[in-house]
Amino acid sequence: MIRPSPVRPKLVRCLHGERFDVPPVWLMRQAGRYLPEYRALRARAKDFLDFCYRPELSVEATLQPLRRFELDAAIMFSDILVVPDALGQAVAFEPGRGPVLEPLDGADAVARLSMENLTGHLAPVYEGIARVRESLAGELALIGFAGAPWTLASYMIEGSASKDYLRLKTWAYGGQDGFRALMDKLVDAVIAHLDAQIRAGCDAVQLFDSWAGVLDADGVATYSIAPIRRIAEAIHAMHPEVPVIAFANRIGVSLERFAREAGVDALSIDAGVPLAYAAENLQPLVTVQGNLDPALLVVGGERMRRAVTDILDALGHGPFVFNLGHGIPQQTPPEHVRELVDVVRGGKG
Ligand code: CP3
Repeated sequence: MIRPSPVRPKLVRCLHGERFDVPPVWLMRQAGRYLPEYRALRARAKDFLDFCYRPELSVEATLQPLRRFELDAAIMFSDILVVPDALGQAVAFEPGRGPVLEPLDGADAVARLSMENLTGHLAPVYEGIARVRESLAGELALIGFAGAPWTLASYMIEGSASKDYLRLKTWAYGGQDGFRALMDKLVDAVIAHLDAQIRAGCDAVQLFDSWAGVLDADGVATYSIAPIRRIAEAIHAMHPEVPVIAFANRIGVSLERFAREAGVDALSIDAGVPLAYAAENLQPLVTVQGNLDPALLVVGGERMRRAVTDILDALGHGPFVFNLGHGIPQQTPPEHVRELVDVVRGGKG
């Protein structure tokens, strides 16, 4: 059953190209360890995946930042790595080390990944979305998300974060047996996962291509833009009202090609993108979302305020969603987030 918001949220209108004097604001990783109430909740779960798969915990984590800050959207608390987990590749989160997977070792391992129980395995995520949807008032939007195929493949092939992504890139550029099959499978899995999130109640979806920036320019077109286009087309065909945002991290001037060819409604840009470049080359094509350097959120004060004002001055005239250039660092004092939101909402504080 599709449960649309009672009113069309401001964020959704903005992602469709509408401009606002005060832009909608939400923050990547707005739920997380910088919040003491998150750490307390997290301590109740056996491990991180258990946390993601228990709706009574994931729903609460989703709502925590909204209780503190005047944000325009909730993002369903989960992780991009629930998809490899649901495909049958075991994922563990080791404290201090981040995610660890048993790396895929060839075409046979790819062939063993199974879509069969994907949405069954992820049912607790959809259950959480339905519950969050019910408790969100008025113009608040609920964002669903997934990792983009390239970034998911990076964890599945490397097994964890990597210094040079050489194994992944060797598979891709070298035409390794199974790489194409893996990417095709991930496109299908991401479509199924986003479709189920939308049917459970999400108003918009974001694809995280956090590792697109390790590719060369042809690679960006082939492994980031092309699969994301297939996903965006499928989602738009099934859910024409639901905007698709892509975070194509650190791809530099390839962003313009991305904006033209990926078929997404909005681009979430990293902190390295010059504001004038984004205003001139990206905003005429898509809604732009971004791009405060997360480190400035740790710094706070006048320095942060100045950077926020610069972003608003440069991008606030076109369709624009205020966000960070990447996720909130765990060292962030929550008070700085309040300050940030106040500045975006009109110079209070
Ligand atoms: O509030 C939100 O934004 C929603 C929740 C969310 C999480 N992960 C929760 C999380 C989202 C949108 C993600 C996306 C995600 N996960 C990405 C793409 C965005 C990015 O940061 O580039 C990636 C690459 C991952 C994979 C992942 N999950 C890593 C690398 C880590 C370890 C790093 C870390 O911060 O510990 C995780 C774990 C994770 N996912 C945590 C949270 C809050 C921390 C785990 C904990 O609480 O112990």
